[in-house]
Amino acid sequence: MLNFEFHNPTKVLFGKGQIAKIKNEIPEGSKVLMVYGGGSIKKNGVYDQVTKALEDFEVVEFQGVPPNPEYAILMEAVKIVKDQNIDYLLAVGGGSVIDGVKFISSAAKFDGEDAWDILAKGIRTYEGVPFGTVLTLPATGSEMNSGSVITRAETKEKRTMGGPGLFPQFSVLDPEVVHSIPKRQIANGLVDSFSHVIEQYLTYPVAAKLQDRIAESVMQTLIEVAPKIMKDPSDYDAASDFMWSCTMALNGLLRMGTPNDWATHMMAHELTALYGIDHARTLAIIHPSHLRHNFEDKKEKLAQYGERVWGIRGGTIEEIAEQAIQKTEEYFHSLEIDTKLSAYTEDYEGTAEIIAKRFKERGWEGLGERKNVTPDDAAKIVSMSY
Ligand code: NZQ
Ligand code: ZN
Repeated sequence: MLNFEFHNPTKVLFGKGQIAKIKNEIPEGSKVLMVYGGGSIKKNGVYDQVTKALEDFEVVEFQGVPPNPEYAILMEAVKIVKDQNIDYLLAVGGGSVIDGVKFISSAAKFDGEDAWDILAKGIRTYEGVPFGTVLTLPATGSEMNSGSVITRAETKEKRTMGGPGLFPQFSVLDPEVVHSIPKRQIANGLVDSFSHVIEQYLTYPVAAKLQDRIAESVMQTLIEVAPKIMKDPSDYDAASDFMWSCTMALNGLLRMGTPNDWATHMMAHELTALYGIDHARTLAIIHPSHLRHNFEDKKEKLAQYGERVWGIRGGTIEEIAEQAIQKTEEYFHSLEIDTKLSAYTEDYEGTAEIIAKRFKERGWEGLGERKNVTPDDAAKIVSMSY
């Protein structure tokens, strides 16, 4: 096992009725900016529960953070925070709203000239405006981590940011919110969280037995609840397992003491930036090609995954590893998620070259757990995904 330091300060309030408790978590007398998305919370009762819980606070609302949170829109909220002396932020939504609030938190305290530098120059955030979240869509794990991904339509870019100042102070995880999520978004959540485990697990063995077993458990739980939650999102027990698995997949625990990949996410973000494809679907496009292109580096963990998660028995390491990739593709297909770029856009020719060029410009010469995925490798992987 590799050395590690683990610190996750986010308080989780899990279960039915927990939204009411946010009033105890926000410091008394705070002026709160409540940030949400396109309005799903007004149809499913979440808005009413949150505004009731905030009765004793002065609240300003900011509606309209879109999926793949847009920089220009978030900058409007940053202005409100500064102009109206907001001292607490509350994200009510999925990963996009939570990530958007992380950006607002950081940018409102940023003293540089151009807030986009936080993303473009990878400036870490050590102190932001404090915030909490009410999660409405299990998927990203953003509710219990300090990362954020922001999109800029003007330049067709999607970049990451983070830092120890960007953990939510608290997050409410009420599985009852799952009942109103459209099937397509449930499928996205199942694939995104599964992919987060793959990124931290399908690397090379480092004798981290506990992390391996936790990772395998998260994947097995997702596979087991997938058909139930796809069929009936109001199944509270299935929604609970789904929600907590998504949080556990990316709250930092799995990556401790283990190598981490994340090359798939980096390539996938470019597909969203270029074509607007849902985050989870871009992961399903890239994963199989990435695993096949880096097969020699990953085959031991792939075989372990094949045996333990998919129950594949017999055959050589290579045979089990290849079957494990096929099982992963079948899992994505079972959720009605296509794994080829051409299923999403006719305009895919040239994508591989554009992505390789962007990676070169950013100096991303070696991605992945061995830092050996070059921009040319990325081009090959992306073209294998057409
Ligand atoms: O905007 P509203 O009206 O709320 O509708 C949303 C949105 O249209 C809807 N929705 C959310 N909760 C709902 C609901 N509809 C009905 N009932 C509910 N309870 O779902 C749509 C998608 O929401 P979004 O927040 O965009 O989805 P998701 O949670 O998948 O977030 C995706 C974003 O997170 C980033 C992705 O790149 C993408 O930008 N990620 C963030 C990560 C992180 N911070 O750690 C890691 C991930 O790898 C990922 O990159
Ligand atoms: Zn993801």
